Amino acid sequence: MRLAFITSNPGKVEEAKKYFESLGVEVYQLRFSYPEIQADTLEEVAEYGAEWLSGRVNGPFFLDDSGLFINALKGFPGVYSAYAYKTLGMDGILRLLEKERDRSAYFKSVIAYWDGTLHLFTGRVDGEIITEKRGSNGFGFDPVFRPSGFDKTFAEMTTEEKNKISHRGRALEAFAEWLKENLK
Ligand code: IMP
Repeated sequence: MRLAFITSNPGKVEEAKKYFESLGVEVYQLRFSYPEIQADTLEEVAEYGAEWLSGRVNGPFFLDDSGLFINALKGFPGVYSAYAYKTLGMDGILRLLEKERDRSAYFKSVIAYWDGTLHLFTGRVDGEIITEKRGSNGFGFDPVFRPSGFDKTFAEMTTEEKNKISHRGRALEAFAEWLKENLK
């Protein structure tokens, strides 16, 4: 089986490819830009994107909308993570947290799969924002996020290690379970 992943982010594709590899499913990247609406939740953004694409893309596809939610910043950047990454960057986020004692945060991922109807799968991982960047793997905020119970940041992990515990890995797991049940 082949699955189209609509995204412009090669980091996300690498993770989904690695995840599905062992299950015999081939994931390929399909670049097709779609509107990312301003909304309060990742679910709404993912749902709108998938429905907009459904009239324009042939065959089943999935997309991922994700974000980093920092508790001391009341959930910011959250749904604005891509924008915050481009504008403030990791250094800007570290500066915002300079005087904060609570550095807890979580990543959340929402996968929207379209096959004629919409299916949403979510995953979350809790952790903290460390005080300086560490590691060079992955993408986005990976160098400043250390998942709870681990000494390494996501950027110090291999894709396989990150997939086992990450928000996207967990959403992919729920997606894969659903596929196994529904494609029998
Ligand atoms: P979007 O899902 O394309 O709207 O972008 C989400 C943004 O959140 C990305 O640009 C990253 O900055 C950040 N992000 C989402 N998932 C991850 C991850 O697994 N590692 C690091 N940053 C992430």
